[in-house]
Amino acid sequence: MIVQRENWGSKLGFILAAAGSAIGLGNIWKFPYIAGENGGAAFIFIYLICIAIIGLPVLIAEILIGRTGNADPVGSFRKLSNSKFWTAVGGMGVMAGFIILSYYAVISGWSLGYIVEAMSGSFNNFVDATDSNAHFGELIGNVWWTVGLQALFMVAVILIVFAGVQKGIERGSKILMPLLLVILLIIMIKGLTLDGADKGLEFLLNPKWEKVTGVTVLMALGHAFFTLSLGMGAMMTYGSYMSKKDSIFTSAVQVIILDTFIALIAGIAIFTAVFAIGQNPAEGPGLIFQTLPVVFAKMPGGYIFGILFFLLLTIAALTSAISLLEVVVSYFVDEKGWARHKAAITFGIVTFLIGLPSALSFNLLGDTKLFGLSFFDIADYLTSNIMLPLGGLLIAIFVGWVWGFDKVLENVKQGAEKLFEQSFWRIQVWKFFLKYLSPVLIFLVLLHSLGLF
Ligand code: TRP
Repeated sequence: MIVQRENWGSKLGFILAAAGSAIGLGNIWKFPYIAGENGGAAFIFIYLICIAIIGLPVLIAEILIGRTGNADPVGSFRKLSNSKFWTAVGGMGVMAGFIILSYYAVISGWSLGYIVEAMSGSFNNFVDATDSNAHFGELIGNVWWTVGLQALFMVAVILIVFAGVQKGIERGSKILMPLLLVILLIIMIKGLTLDGADKGLEFLLNPKWEKVTGVTVLMALGHAFFTLSLGMGAMMTYGSYMSKKDSIFTSAVQVIILDTFIALIAGIAIFTAVFAIGQNPAEGPGLIFQTLPVVFAKMPGGYIFGILFFLLLTIAALTSAISLLEVVVSYFVDEKGWARHKAAITFGIVTFLIGLPSALSFNLLGDTKLFGLSFFDIADYLTSNIMLPLGGLLIAIFVGWVWGFDKVLENVKQGAEKLFEQSFWRIQVWKFFLKYLSPVLIFLVLLHSLGLF
């Protein structure tokens, strides 16, 4: 029996879903604190360059592989390459999807729990960061809280993926993404109108070049990968549901603009408030869960803004998580002939179970360390620092060198005929970046992650 493969209902459907995948904890939780720790505008400047010269070319390459192969990452690579090696690269992507989602759901669960905390008013009497740190420690130290919320979050992810590409992912993105944008804009305007907001803007927008080192550049590169969901086939899978009538170039640029825009306004929203309330901006990963609750406790209207903020963070996490589960589900649907429903439930549960050691890293397994790293840290390091750059490197090499550029051209032009008639140089620039610049720079990131220099 040949079952018609699913696809997006419209071009906007793809863009919102892909932007939903890109915009996640990476934009709202990670970007502001790494920008804050690494020289503010200086970091942002380098990051924007990385997005343009590595992020965009690799994003186009990934979508192209998926759309041309018209299958999950394993199937697409197999069709285009006919080689075991490249098929295995797709397989590594599916594995990475499992692992990333397993720990991503833990933090997402915290975010979900913080909506409830904000609603119950538990931030209200925080006087300073000591109070909120203690509260945060208590919450994540509680096995039932952490694991229960992780499970609840996974249920939401499973339900959306279960409902299918158009009825689940596309419909969900069309509701959630505009909502996310509206909430973020409201919070940013609130931040900008607080007394002392200018100090936050200055912190974020004033470049501190003395903080920039080689490592900063590598961090910016690594983050460009993570924030655009690159290197493991998520964009390939979403690309596989894309119509050949739409332009990959244009869609990729639109997704990137949305992702970057959201990261920047999240940074502005957060730092204006943190400075106006006189909190420490350099709290690193604790910025969101430890510093912000104090900010909400002291800010006029903070009760409502606290709820809105964690709602925003949870929505962003949810639309990213569904893209991760979709990679795994599409593999079992396309390659193993499973029904979508069965695949979504089974692998949603499996991912939850794989994520348990990560969730327990903050409580029961707190003392269990391998090379000084907890399960959570290992899962994060293995994927963000090794599997994603390696995947991205191989994707750039495949499209730049292996596939055959005449075939690449023919496929990337579909849906973009006009664009390329007008300006063929775009393809040449893309080709140059993909063949030379991206592999070399990504290779350096990888060597650095492996501690080789
Ligand atoms: N891009 C998401 C974020 O910024 C995370 C994410 C979703 C992701 N899917 C991915 C990262 C695939 C790497 C690969 O939070």
